[in-house]
Amino acid sequence: MSSPIVTVKTDQERQDLVIIPPTSGVGLSGKINVPGDKSISHRALMLGAIAEGETTIQGLLLGEDPQSTAACFRQMGADISELSDETVCVRGLGIGNLQEPNDVLNAGNSGTTLRLMLGLLASQPGRFFTVTGDKSLRSRPMSRVVTPLSQMGARIWGRDAGQLAPLAISGSHLKPTHYQSPVASAQVKSCLLLAGLSIHGETTVTEPALSRDHSERMLRAFGAEIEVDPSCHRVTVTGPATLKGQPVIVPGDISSAAFWLVAAAIIPGSDLLLENVGVNPTRTGILDALHQMEADVTLEHQREVAGEPVADIRVRSSQLKACEIGGALIPRLIDEVPILAVAATMAQGTTVIRDAQELRVKESDRLLAMAQELGKLGANVRERPDGLEITGGVPLQGADLDSYDDHRVAMSLAIAALLANGPSHLYNAQAASISYPNFIHTLKTALNDG
Ligand code: S3P
Repeated sequence: MSSPIVTVKTDQERQDLVIIPPTSGVGLSGKINVPGDKSISHRALMLGAIAEGETTIQGLLLGEDPQSTAACFRQMGADISELSDETVCVRGLGIGNLQEPNDVLNAGNSGTTLRLMLGLLASQPGRFFTVTGDKSLRSRPMSRVVTPLSQMGARIWGRDAGQLAPLAISGSHLKPTHYQSPVASAQVKSCLLLAGLSIHGETTVTEPALSRDHSERMLRAFGAEIEVDPSCHRVTVTGPATLKGQPVIVPGDISSAAFWLVAAAIIPGSDLLLENVGVNPTRTGILDALHQMEADVTLEHQREVAGEPVADIRVRSSQLKACEIGGALIPRLIDEVPILAVAATMAQGTTVIRDAQELRVKESDRLLAMAQELGKLGANVRERPDGLEITGGVPLQGADLDSYDDHRVAMSLAIAALLANGPSHLYNAQAASISYPNFIHTLKTALNDG
């Protein structure tokens, strides 16, 4: 057995250091239940807050991002019980009844909170809101939602001509629109659909490729009139709508499962079962990519839970082959590119990831972060303007790594470090708690290292 994974608290806030030794040669085994889906958790809290009556949520993600959503909507008068493993209850206010908060709404690190919420705030006539976020969120582009909302009559001000938070919003009556989004973004689509709930008439969004459709599914379940034309990635909401509180069951997050999928695929001797994972087809691009890489991944016990497809996923280690990905597959694995890059370091041949320029405006510039940090481990990585090229099979060595304060970079590097031939120091590993509070603990347990 190798030396254990050690977490060291340094004196600076968020400067946790995790020391990750190479794996001991024993694979990952047993079962893992990953935390609740982040996208579905945000939407359940938001729709619950604007619905009439009670929404109950089981399996909610207890990470920092949903905490930010809950805090914002509590400030606007929604009654949301403490987020816990038990059922979370939301007593909604009804669409159009969000109260003017007496302080700034803070979305923390969460782009989903800020962008989706903007659609709701802009369409609350007569109320004034200010919104901000942490350093990362304040640097991320808000024009992708501010521009279409402004075309619909919204009044929004912010730094850099309304492109950056903090933003100020004076709620008003908006006009219906048909917006052709230049990016395949569920955040843009969902923002406009939420605004459309209180608009008389049809609000339509067309996107260049299909992004995750959790909003469409959940809005329909809550009683909104939603029409989807899959042939051209077009969705329409007809307002004004009345939402009725619903029971929501949140499946495990495939974006969190992805770290274990890749870890078990590349650590020899692994045989792991990931239970209760959401396998909505708009999110399963990582499974398609791993199949292209000839990974041994199978779905078991496929079922539908509360309107979302769910399965258990079994993964066994095998020799991976390089793959080439791009185009419409990218929105279906947008958050999994960092961990896919780790898989590529262990695959035979050169993996090419194209059309992924969106990664430059996530919680960090994830293309830059992964190229830099995998490079420190000795991997053969080339950064492209729109992606990465990685030639696998080069032995990795231990290094000092930084998470860039980005949860998905932190977890991807933790897995990569297991494959190095010496210990690595991962700084700012604490970022993982944005979407996976127990990640390091689960890693220790899965390695029988706990
Ligand atoms: C999300 C959509 C994606 C994703 C993000 C969560 C959502 O962003 O990267 O982590 O919940 O709608 P984009 O829609 O901007 O691609």
